[in-house]
Amino acid sequence: MSDRANFGSKLGVILATAGSAVGLGNVWRFPYMAGENGGAVFIIIYVACVLLLGIPCMISEFIVGRHGRANTARSFQTLANGKPWALIGYMGVLTGFLITGYYAVVSGWCLQYVWASLIGHLQGDPQYFKTYFIELSSDPVKPVFWTVVILVMTYLIIENGVRNGIERASKMMMPTLFVLLLIIVGASCMLPNAYKGIEFLFKPDFSKINSDVFLSALGQSFYSMSIAMGCLCTYASYFSKETNLTKAASQIAIIDCLVAILAGLMIFPAAFSVGVEPDSGPSLIFITLPNVFQQAFSGMPVMGYIISLLFFVLLSLAALTSLMSLHEVSTAFFQEELHTTRKRAALIVTVSTAIIGAFCSLSLGAYDGLTFYGEALFDWFDFVTGQIFLPVVGFLTCIFIGWFVPHKIVRDEFSNWGELKDYVRYFHRYLFLIKYVCPLAILLIFLHQLGIL
Ligand code: PHE
Repeated sequence: MSDRANFGSKLGVILATAGSAVGLGNVWRFPYMAGENGGAVFIIIYVACVLLLGIPCMISEFIVGRHGRANTARSFQTLANGKPWALIGYMGVLTGFLITGYYAVVSGWCLQYVWASLIGHLQGDPQYFKTYFIELSSDPVKPVFWTVVILVMTYLIIENGVRNGIERASKMMMPTLFVLLLIIVGASCMLPNAYKGIEFLFKPDFSKINSDVFLSALGQSFYSMSIAMGCLCTYASYFSKETNLTKAASQIAIIDCLVAILAGLMIFPAAFSVGVEPDSGPSLIFITLPNVFQQAFSGMPVMGYIISLLFFVLLSLAALTSLMSLHEVSTAFFQEELHTTRKRAALIVTVSTAIIGAFCSLSLGAYDGLTFYGEALFDWFDFVTGQIFLPVVGFLTCIFIGWFVPHKIVRDEFSNWGELKDYVRYFHRYLFLIKYVCPLAILLIFLHQLGIL
């Protein structure tokens, strides 16, 4: 398949894949998880998990994707040699597909908040922000509208192909995101009493460590690195033979950690400066933060307006680059499996995930019929994909690569067919992690998430 699309440059590889990794997980999930789990200790464990477990898992998906040079399902099939291991690939595609709709809903909220900031609607007392969010998320029309808008934006990028669509958009959006991040970090750290937030982030209190903190950090690191959803595998199918997989995975992991920590530095100093506790859970970004920004900059309302607007633009950019990678998993799948054009495949994905997204969104209050066993469809999607499929696919991928695929194939991909001499030596360390340490760690997260551990 020599005419297969590919990324045009090393920078493109790194920015596109880092774009997948850097998402709502970094800016939304990481800060509230760090807030709930003791700040600095959580961050230390998190970084350790990324380095020791996240990077090897990421490399494994890269290996499958680059070797297969096809969509995730087909790439697994190539290596599975007729054995049922191919099912992992199908599960990965399915997970990516189902998550796209759900992720688009939250991404849509971000766009709605950009709009609300822009027209000056994000102003009021703390109760106002709460009501605003609850009304928005349970509205029958608005969130569905924004979900469709962000999916159409994703479509318009994806349909242009890998190089002209994904790579080009990532090269523009990722640096913008970084600049916005630095501006907001600067503004937040200059507030009075900001040091308390910085201290919370960087001064470890080791008495806070318990198994919960540990396993939450582990789960978060996998989610944040886009592991087990087919994204890494699909993007790796566009890598060239020269791409150094370990180096790429390490660089992406570093960017991902950096953005997460900077997101903390954006939020905690501002929160502490107005005396708001950072452990308010998932609502941190949508309810607590607009209020924090407003109060923190109450002496300079224009500044508050600008920072809040920039923050939601940043959040939307982060969401969009991740959404692109999720969308691409199914687009590549449909394109190759249905032998159709990229445009048509992308359209199928956009329409079907918009329908899924609409149902997820409506289940949050607008329509009671979408609740099963007391939980909204939205929460079911979150649970089934994030807490069941993700660990299962991740675990099986490690077992597959570590125990089933011939080591020669794995070593060849790992070391670029022996060209990367040093990496021939690192191979055993990688193999040890992927054979024993990673599967065990994923098993622990899985049992923890199900409440068994
Ligand atoms: N890594 C993304 C984030 O941090 C989430 C994501 C997971 C995106 C899996 C794509 C695939 O938000």
